[in-house]
Parts: sequence; C-alpha cells; structure tokens
Amino acid sequence: MFKLKQWLIYLVCSLVIMNTEGLFVNITFVRNAVAKGAVCLDGSPPAYHLDRGSGTGINSWLIQLEGGGWCNNVTNCVSRMHTRLGSSKKMVENLAFSAILSNKKQYNPDFYNWNRVKVRYCDGASFTGDVEAVNPATNLHFRGARVWLAVMQELLAKGMINAENAVLSGCSAGGLASLMHCDSFRALLPMGTKVKCLSDAGFFLNTRDVSGVQYIKTYFEDVVTLHGSAKNLPRSCTSRLTPAMVESIHVIIIKPFFVSLQYFYPYNQSPKICSVSFRNMWLARLELLCSFLMPLMTLGR
Ligand SMILES: *[C@@H]1O[C@H](CO)[C@@H](O)[C@H](O)[C@H]1NC(C)=O
Repeated sequence: MFKLKQWLIYLVCSLVIMNTEGLFVNITFVRNAVAKGAVCLDGSPPAYHLDRGSGTGINSWLIQLEGGGWCNNVTNCVSRMHTRLGSSKKMVENLAFSAILSNKKQYNPDFYNWNRVKVRYCDGASFTGDVEAVNPATNLHFRGARVWLAVMQELLAKGMINAENAVLSGCSAGGLASLMHCDSFRALLPMGTKVKCLSDAGFFLNTRDVSGVQYIKTYFEDVVTLHGSAKNLPRSCTSRLTPAMVESIHVIIIKPFFVSLQYFYPYNQSPKICSVSFRNMWLARLELLCSFLMPLMTLGR
C-alpha cells in the first residue's frame, strides 16, 4: 500500500513537472574555490546551476540563492553536513528550473531569457560564515561568506561583469542571504549595472513566540557565533544593532504566510495551539507586524 502511494505521488509529480517545467539544468562545481577555503560544511566544493540567457536577456543576470534553514550548533551542523544542504557530494546533478527560473515566457515573462543561476546552499548560515579553524574531530567548515564570494567571482568571470541588469534573489534562508549580501553584490558589479535585490520570505521577526520565549533572538545569536558571521554582516546594520538582530530585522518584501507560520509555530516545534482563538491570534500578529512596519515606512519617506 505504501509503495503504491509513493509510486502514485511520483507519477503525478513527474507529470506536473513534465507539463509545466521540462527544464533541467546541470550542476557546476566551483572546484578552484577549495584552495581558497571556500567550501561546504563538509569541505566539498560549492556549486551552482546556470542557464545561459539569450536575445534581449543576454546581458542580464538573475541570481537565486537557495534556502533551507540554518544550523546553530555542532550537533545539527554535523547532521546537515551529510545532506545536500551541507555537502555538494549529496546534491542532484540536474535541477528543475521553474517559476522565476523558468525559461518559458508564459510562466516567467520578466526573466525567462536572462542568465539564470541557482546558487546551492551548503554552509548553514545564509552565506555569512567565516571561521579559519577546522576541528578535526568534526571536520566542520564554517565558510559561507567565502562560498558567496567564490561563486560570485566565477559568475563575474562567466560574463556577469558585463551585466546591464542584475537581480539578487532568494527564498527563506536564501531570502535572508539576499538582504545581507545586497550591498556586497552591488559593490561587485560595475557602476553602470542596474542592481536590485529581492527577498522572498527572508524576514524573520525578532519577537517572542507563542510560548513567550525569545526563540529567534537566541537562535540567530547561536548561528552568528558558531559560524563567525558578525564580520560579514552589513556594517550599516551592525553599527546600530547586534549581529543576531541584523539577521532577524530587515525587510524588502514579505510573504505574509511565512511570517504567520513563524508566529504560530515556535521554530522546530510542532503546532500545539488548538485552544487559542485564531481570530485573536491573527489580530495580535497583525498588530505586531504593523508595529514593525510603520517605523520602516516612515524611514523610507
Ligand atoms: C541544537 O539546536 C537545536 C535547535 O535549536 C536544539 O533543539 C538542540 O537541543 C541543540 N543541541 C545542542 C546539543 O545544543
């Protein structure tokens, strides 16, 4: 029975993918990055998938940073290093390019003919870590910031240096990375390049969760400390906030659903809020969200 169910899911998903996508893009390993110590958690080379642009999009680049949470202590970084989120040895060779990465005009009218890149996420700290020392007992490498730079250098050499337009995007942990690396991305490109950053669900509110615990603050403090991220966060933010706060405050675009999910479920815990009035939860959340957004909006004026 279980096998049949699995098989059916596989069949349906294959049909959906064949009908809507049909584009699989080969992985490229950045092997020369290893000499610079720019590596995944397990020491393997970083990787990306590039589909070349054409026509009017030939000199435009869309970079998408892969998401996938973080690891905040040695225990869960060690578990992670044996998965695709910690090792390029575990990544699939061919990745389906869909949505903003699609090459079909009807699904992706703005970017379908741009150079489109998916940068694989394998450092566990939104591409911000940089610790020289590697503990031989664990063989964990905290080098996300080096990975970021090594991949960007390779893409610049592959033609991004001539970009007329460049967009840095990402979702979740990748959305957070696109915020934190936006200034650095701008600085890597020529003055004449039009540069935009797009953060999809990359905004993590620094507030108490439903059980009253400051989970997000503690969690990001652990990430920043473990990965040695502080020096690689935007100076314009760290001059005013602690590094953990930089990782949790900052906004361009918000996907409301993701924000509400964070509220409902203290990260990593299963939902147990059945007795709480949903209406009150929503109101409380909206109120909180507004208290974050209002000052930002007046700042923008
Ligand atoms: C590691 O972090 C996770 C998630 O925050 C936590 O559940 C776990 O207890 C931590 N493990 C150790 C050994 O600190």
